[in-house]
Amino acid sequence: MSTRPSILIARNVFPEVLAKLREHFDVDTNDEDNPLSPSQLAARLQGKVGVITTGSERVDAALIAACPQLKIVANIAVGYNNFDLPAITAAGVLASNTPDVLTETTADFGFALLLATARRLTESEHFLRAGQWNRWALDMFAGAEVNGSTLGILGMGRIGQAIARRGAHGFGMKVIYNNRSRLDAQTEADCKARYVDKAELLRTADHLVLVLPYSAESHHAIGAAELAQMKPTATLVNIARGGIVDDAALAVALREKRIAAAGLDVFEGEPKVHPDLLTVPNVVLTPHIASATIATRKAMAHLAADNVIAYLTQGKTVTPLNPEVAGQR
Ligand code: DGY
Repeated sequence: MSTRPSILIARNVFPEVLAKLREHFDVDTNDEDNPLSPSQLAARLQGKVGVITTGSERVDAALIAACPQLKIVANIAVGYNNFDLPAITAAGVLASNTPDVLTETTADFGFALLLATARRLTESEHFLRAGQWNRWALDMFAGAEVNGSTLGILGMGRIGQAIARRGAHGFGMKVIYNNRSRLDAQTEADCKARYVDKAELLRTADHLVLVLPYSAESHHAIGAAELAQMKPTATLVNIARGGIVDDAALAVALREKRIAAAGLDVFEGEPKVHPDLLTVPNVVLTPHIASATIATRKAMAHLAADNVIAYLTQGKTVTPLNPEVAGQR
């Protein structure tokens, strides 16, 4: 019988990441790659000291209590709203995420979604594929201007700043932002971004991109009242998390043209999508792929593995969320 520590990788990872982990641990894998329910996860974690999760697996007080040998939970994601961090921390379990490695890739996607939404890319492609294009017309799929317009950003962390730089330096946009705390003057200057309150952000942005973390405070940060404050010509892009936008209210606003269009990569209750969003034409929908390039997804998986290896073999932390618990378990 092996005396090496055992870990679980809750979802499939790249072969080289698996090989790297197998140099140190007995590794249990979920070859079907279906998200594990809380009870399945608890059962698979018996006797394991580490787990690599994705945003699809919930790690809460009940799971931690059911897995007394667990020392580290490493999320392959920068967002960690699937973790009950206070409960994980109270139990002395180290938690980690994958910041930085996905910043630029995710910002690229945010911009792609903004452009696709403003310039009606998928709507016009569907029209063409359906064989409906029989003549050119001056106003055919005429969308909203991106260059020179006002880019609003709600949530100005690393990804928000990377989007701001693309808008300001690449597209000559005027950038305004709102965030829990204001950026320092140098960072504002680098991003050419001006701090405004949320009401001004909603009122003034031609394109509003959401990049804030999900929490009880940010739940439905954009609902019917906020949508009503936006310009009727505005576009809304959500690459943050489902639940930040009230998807039902958004579907109504899109159908009634209270805003022009939306681009959504994340959804309340995903992978389910609010049925009304599937029937409105002025929305671009993608399945939570903002960080999905091969290079970035590999970098994320490697970083999660590095967190587990460093902590379990040397007691070191790499990108911890709660470094204060290191060594407690
Ligand atoms: C992240 O890193 O948080 C992405 O949304 C992938 O889950």
